Amino acid sequence: MKSKRLLVGNWKMYLGSSEATALASQLATFSKDLKHSAAWIAPSFPHLASCAQAAKGSPIQVGAQNVCWEANGAFTGEVSLASLKECGCNFAIVGHSERRLLCGETPELVARRMNFALQSNLQVILCVGETFEQHQDGETHAALAEQLAPVVDGLAAEHADHLCVAYEPVWAIGTGRYPTNQEIRGAHEFIAQQFARKMKDPPCILYGGSVTPENFEHILGVPLVHGALVGRASLKFEQFRALIEISERCGPIL
Ligand code: 13P
Repeated sequence: MKSKRLLVGNWKMYLGSSEATALASQLATFSKDLKHSAAWIAPSFPHLASCAQAAKGSPIQVGAQNVCWEANGAFTGEVSLASLKECGCNFAIVGHSERRLLCGETPELVARRMNFALQSNLQVILCVGETFEQHQDGETHAALAEQLAPVVDGLAAEHADHLCVAYEPVWAIGTGRYPTNQEIRGAHEFIAQQFARKMKDPPCILYGGSVTPENFEHILGVPLVHGALVGRASLKFEQFRALIEISERCGPIL
């Protein structure tokens, strides 16, 4: 996962069916010859199959914004991993702050989702990040430690290669505000340290929160930033393309 810089578009609950499929097609055509970057997209559930079809034969990977922690059963509103694979998904996002804060998903539940997906050979992007209050109170590392504890405890070393962590400060999501490079570096180093007892090398760590073509190059200059999880700027082809072009210009990942 770490050989190329990873740019993941989290389309959240935006884009209708034809818009999502058209964007997936444009990205598929554009991404054919990327050298240093990989572009992945996470459309909302109903558009996964059509986007996967549109991206077929291209390097674009399609993934879901969540995945159930059980194979099947009476879990109204959840989507099974088998169904996601049938739709052409190769990865799933788990633990996005919108799930944690709006839907009450606990670190333990997020870890169960992650473990089930990893055991079934799905790649996982695990999101962690502190709230504005925690940031103000100097509790960023404590918040990250709390979210990561059950994840690291339950992680089987043989699956670690399929895990990517996204550091997304809640206060930076959709606000136009983002941390200093020093703050990003501190958080990414802290995240890497949490995994040290399970993994020889640090996991792939993405930054997410108000990434734009204006700030991306600056953010990519931070050590241990392996790419980005992008919301709003991934919804428009020109902006997503601009981000990918910036990554390509930055050369091979170090
Ligand atoms: P924005 O890029 O819109 O701030 O969203 C970030 C995010 O939540 C990606 O998962």
